[in-house]
Amino acid sequence: MHSFRIVSFYVLATSLQIGAGSASAQSVNIETAVLCTSQSQPNPIDTQYPTQITGTINGTYAGLSIPYASARAIVPSQYAILRHAYESLLPGWPKDMYPAYYEGLLDHDIGIGPLKIGDFQRSSIRFPFIDRLGDGHTSFRYTGPVMLSPNNLVALVGASVGNDIRAGTFRPACEAYADDGHGNTFLEGTGVGSSKADVRGTFRVTSSNPYALDVFKNMTNQPSFSSVGTLCDHYISLYNSSVTQGVNSPVPVQGSVYVRPPYYLKETTLAASGYRMDLSFIETNNVRCESLKGYSGTGPGDSG
Ligand SMILES: *[C@@H]1O[C@H](CO)[C@@H](O)[C@H](O)[C@H]1NC(C)=O
Ligand SMILES: *[C@@H]1O[C@H](CO)[C@@H](O)[C@H](O)[C@H]1NC(C)=O
Ligand SMILES: *[C@@H]1O[C@H](CO)[C@@H](O)[C@H](O)[C@H]1NC(C)=O
Repeated sequence: MHSFRIVSFYVLATSLQIGAGSASAQSVNIETAVLCTSQSQPNPIDTQYPTQITGTINGTYAGLSIPYASARAIVPSQYAILRHAYESLLPGWPKDMYPAYYEGLLDHDIGIGPLKIGDFQRSSIRFPFIDRLGDGHTSFRYTGPVMLSPNNLVALVGASVGNDIRAGTFRPACEAYADDGHGNTFLEGTGVGSSKADVRGTFRVTSSNPYALDVFKNMTNQPSFSSVGTLCDHYISLYNSSVTQGVNSPVPVQGSVYVRPPYYLKETTLAASGYRMDLSFIETNNVRCESLKGYSGTGPGDSG
């Protein structure tokens, strides 16, 4: 996602300054490095793509059927919604609804080759199938405000790059999700200054899922953009690496997402269905959106 790529670059740049003795750089590094030791598997592709930002994104991805009018109210009005694109992937999709999706994730083992930054968590709602270029064809994902940990890093990044990143703390800390003791997994984010949770996903394993995995493969591989800035994030989510296969295969889940402003229009609990899964990613940030005209993925590992 756009915000996250900027974070990646920023933190990588910041980490590089540590030898020069920058106090703020040290505090960033200490917080990100010490707070998170997760159970997630290591990044399996860092040596394969040594000159690019790679990592893993472990968590829950869940489709949210929201009123079309709500999506229209959130996505900047100059960009059309490519209804025909999602109707082709979701046959029988109701006319008055739109497929947004939630993601509650742990970004893990991120870096460029051997240069790694600390893990962090994030939650946001994404709005795929947006006509960012006005070409009537290429699908982009619009990303709403993103809650991101850790707090001081968020504050630093927010101030330095002006993205719509909000500081928050998560339960469980440093993991993609945890068992709630009632047969569900959850991830709950509370914004700095909030008296209660702002985003919470609660899911249990299901045998039926209204969204084929390929729908997520498609949505999570659309280049992303946000309300801030004019550049795009060319983010490739791979479904063919070891963290997504065999014993790590995606698990269908259903449940709900509780959310309130600024993460959604109003306070509400939305029914949600999707997958608990871990993906590897390759990220190229700050790309001219126009350069992605006609983009449809790079191959079978990331397009569907
Ligand atoms: C994803 O995170 C969960 C929760 O911490 C963990 O149990 C699981 O092993 C992780 N998956 C992978 C492939 O690392
Ligand atoms: C995974 O998919 C990507 C994109 O399609 C491809 O470039 C890569 O070679 C694939 N990796 C494996 C191990 O099949
Ligand atoms: C997503 O699906 C749309 C509609 O079928 C297609 O045009 C686009 O190329 C797909 N994108 C990816 C990344 O798979």
